[in-house]
Amino acid sequence: MPVTAAGSGLKQREGLGRVSLGDSVYPLILNADDRAAALKALETAVRGCVLCKLARTRTNAVPGDGSSMAVVLFVGEGPGFDEDKQGLPFVGRSGKFLTESLQRVGIRRADVYITNVVKCRPPENRDPEPDEIDACKEYLDRQIALINPRIIVTLGRHSLSRWLSGASITKVHGQIRNIGHGRVLLPMFHPAAALRNETWRNDFTRDMEKLPGLVARALHANEAAARGEAPWAGQPHPGDADYAAHGAEGGQTIEADAGAQEVSALPGSEEAGPAQMRLL
Ligand code: URA
Ligand code: SF4
Repeated sequence: MPVTAAGSGLKQREGLGRVSLGDSVYPLILNADDRAAALKALETAVRGCVLCKLARTRTNAVPGDGSSMAVVLFVGEGPGFDEDKQGLPFVGRSGKFLTESLQRVGIRRADVYITNVVKCRPPENRDPEPDEIDACKEYLDRQIALINPRIIVTLGRHSLSRWLSGASITKVHGQIRNIGHGRVLLPMFHPAAALRNETWRNDFTRDMEKLPGLVARALHANEAAARGEAPWAGQPHPGDADYAAHGAEGGQTIEADAGAQEVSALPGSEEAGPAQMRLL
């Protein structure tokens, strides 16, 4: 059955589902049109943001780019020269390498979502500073809650440290970690680092090869959630600290959501070769 993300049969009754992220709670948005509209509004807010000093030196803010229905979210460091000019993430040399690396494992760039820890270019491509990362954090949080990805791929150490502070990228790259609430983390080298160093480039390529298997599992998990048989990402899962307390409630919430849905297939569940794989 042809199913596209935009034509997804997923429907949600207002206010039934929630996504928790740290101490914050956000609404779970399943409907593709509603999700795209919310993401657009967020992108517009970022383009006009003046919350930190990077606003003064940027040409264009770079909110992010890709599918609002992605199961994979890539998080880089911050826009570089080309990104600042175009207002789009990973469009320079690093971006070309990232896009090609995705294609090599059968994933279209348009089916994932790509963003950065800071949305405005640090002058001379210096590292983003802690106050800038802090100021920008709420945008990344909202993107995660909205897109609600099952898989977060960090590119480089700045995005890695949001989830694994103090971890060494050379040690943990390629190690898939459960980060709770139905999400996994796949830390990878930054594409710019991979381009500079052959060992890291080979590691980058090998780590990327883990993605299709994770995507397949993520799509299964979302299909189960749509049937009301498992939680959505962002909700307490077995093994999470908050599962015992809220697990049953979480399950009911999901069932109530699913009850309102006519879901015979989700985007991505159609039988297709990896090249046509659509990521929810
Ligand atoms: N490097 C990044 O970290 N992000 C981009 O968007 C481009 C280059
Ligand atoms: Fe706003 Fe983030 Fe840009 Fe700072 S980096 S101005 S917080 S969008």
